[in-house]
Amino acid sequence: MVQLEEIRKTFPMEAGPVYALRGVNLHIKRGEMVAITGSSGSGKTTLMNILGCLSSPDSGTYRLAGEEVSNLSQQQLATIRSRRIGFVFQTFNLLPRLNALQNVELPLLYARATAGAIDRARHALERVGLADRVEHFPNQLSGGQCQRVAIARALVNEPSIILADEPTGAVDSVTSQDIMKLFHSLHAEGRTIIIVTHDQGVAAQCERQIVLKDGTVTIPGKGGNS
Ligand SMILES: Nc1ncnc2c1ncn2[C@@H]1O[C@H](COP(=O)(O)OP(=O)(O)O)[C@@H](O)[C@H]1O
Ligand SMILES: [Mg+2]
Repeated sequence: MVQLEEIRKTFPMEAGPVYALRGVNLHIKRGEMVAITGSSGSGKTTLMNILGCLSSPDSGTYRLAGEEVSNLSQQQLATIRSRRIGFVFQTFNLLPRLNALQNVELPLLYARATAGAIDRARHALERVGLADRVEHFPNQLSGGQCQRVAIARALVNEPSIILADEPTGAVDSVTSQDIMKLFHSLHAEGRTIIIVTHDQGVAAQCERQIVLKDGTVTIPGKGGNS
């Protein structure tokens, strides 16, 4: 599903270049549930942005579902995103002036799939257990409920991949477990799930851990590059 070969990303800064990714090689199969871990600054978010087609690598190749996406235009990347990828963020990123239903509907409007959008958004909210909160605004929901709205929003386009960057980073441990239950059920449906996390308890629930260190993937116990 995901194949990265020698992915590099450097941020040119006045104080000198920051080598955020220094030759990442990574294969993730369709239907896998993997954790990406690594200390702060190791390149996790930069990698997620590339995996999610939010940014392009400077060099290397990225094949997503068999399609080479490393050199696509911004417009082409946007199309891939809306068709294939659902994002979940640590801080939920809901729009405060939209209610739960409207937040979930948003990706459908971007994808111009307006027919049946309300029904699909309602169904996605049912799937995350929030059928009774469709008219609530983000400030009327708990953190865990906001994250479930965000997961419903990630699901509404029926993406094959869910990318979650620290999805449990802003909620308590009980809520964190609820959110992980949801990811497990999405995984059981055959979706590919990639979760960036600092939480060893969360990482241990995934089938496999990918550890980033200084912009490369390390093999646990061996300390070298993969
Ligand atoms: N847009 C950017 N501009 C400049 N430097 C960046 C940018 N994004 C990330 N970096 C740098 O790249 C490195 C990796 O960052 P990041 O991918 O956010 O790491 P992580 O998510 O693992 O904490 C860090 O040194 C960070 O400061
Ligand atoms: Mg990060």
